[in-house]
Amino acid sequence: MRHPDTLADTISDAATAPPPAREKIETSRRGLLRGLGLASVGVAALAAGCSPAATQADAAPAPATPEVDKSLAILGANESPFGPSPKAVEAMIAKAALTARYADAEGEDLKKQIAAIEGVAPEQVFLANGSAPILAAFGEMIAKKGEGQLVTSIATYEGVPRSAGQYGAELIMTPLTADFAIDLDAMAAKVSKKTTATYVCNPNNPTGNMVDPVKLKAFAIEASKTAPCFIDEAYLDLCDDYAGNVMTGLVRDGHNVVICRTFSKIYGMAGQRLGYGIAGPELAREMAMATRMGGVNHLGIVAAMASLADKEFVPTMRPKFKAGRERLYNVVKGLGRPIASNPQASFVFFDVGMPSKVFAEKMMAEGVRVVGRSWAQYDNWTRICVGEDWEMDRCEAALKKVLA
Ligand SMILES: Cc1ncc(COP(=O)(O)O)c(C=O)c1O
Repeated sequence: MRHPDTLADTISDAATAPPPAREKIETSRRGLLRGLGLASVGVAALAAGCSPAATQADAAPAPATPEVDKSLAILGANESPFGPSPKAVEAMIAKAALTARYADAEGEDLKKQIAAIEGVAPEQVFLANGSAPILAAFGEMIAKKGEGQLVTSIATYEGVPRSAGQYGAELIMTPLTADFAIDLDAMAAKVSKKTTATYVCNPNNPTGNMVDPVKLKAFAIEASKTAPCFIDEAYLDLCDDYAGNVMTGLVRDGHNVVICRTFSKIYGMAGQRLGYGIAGPELAREMAMATRMGGVNHLGIVAAMASLADKEFVPTMRPKFKAGRERLYNVVKGLGRPIASNPQASFVFFDVGMPSKVFAEKMMAEGVRVVGRSWAQYDNWTRICVGEDWEMDRCEAALKKVLA
């Protein structure tokens, strides 16, 4: 199959977004300090050249009440509207002055922490500045200088297929099933001696739904006998049944599987850039070499460690995303639009009955930014993600107007 046009469009949905009011919004509503009582203390301390840690201990936390700019609801890039763990913010503020140093030792600590949680050896964990560099490096690796072949589905997240295609790999992208799920049987039927990797995004972006875990396990075991099976779990923390769907056990059991995760989604750290992969020791070493040139950002590591240690954070966030996606789903359903069922991530995917770019312009006129591009074979479909309550209110009103 030809490399679809949309793959050339973007790897980052945020990158395609038009610019209005961006700076104002980012600093006010998605800023790192938002919602944390320590925020003004930490910033003041840094500005004055004091040790933020010492100042935090000395001073009573001042409430951070940045003004929220509501000129635009930003619902296009699958960021978390709820922000990072306050413990992550606190840790970043405390360590900000240490960023003169490369974070190799801290990176080793984070790998150990992840390894302990996942039940693998630290050598099986590799870090990167977000998971996008992992997807890109994997795509290049399996392209094998133009001799490679990737089997995946369409529509799915573009990171791996885009990179593999750019480096000359043949792309085999099987259509979704009638209910908009990744068709693992169709993918399995395409795996051959020429295949150098398979890629499954679960929950899938842009559809948001998941594959049956028993089927995925069987698929990955079989496909990984031929070539590495890459499972992108960027949104897995958001789903209703994490334990029933997590696939790290395949790596533990020695299968040639790569699990990819990010702190950009449920952990609310999209701008801080921290992702990781888990694989067999040899592949993990190769991936680390390919993704970590120059190391990984210090505060991302610090925030990731604090986030993982904050055991309350994910259980608090999960129901918020669930409530948001269910609200979006019900609104769209109520408008009678075809929609990918059972969304399990932070977004819904549905038919807007017009080119998605036109729909995005109409939504923008209502003060709602949605993704401004389409997916190959889904020209009239779009994906909208969960926002804060006021954003959801505005989005609901806009959808009712635009899709009436
Ligand atoms: C499925 C999936 N994987 C990976 C990424 C890359 O995210 P990041 O580079 O922020 O970790 C995204 C971003 O939206 C995504 O949707």
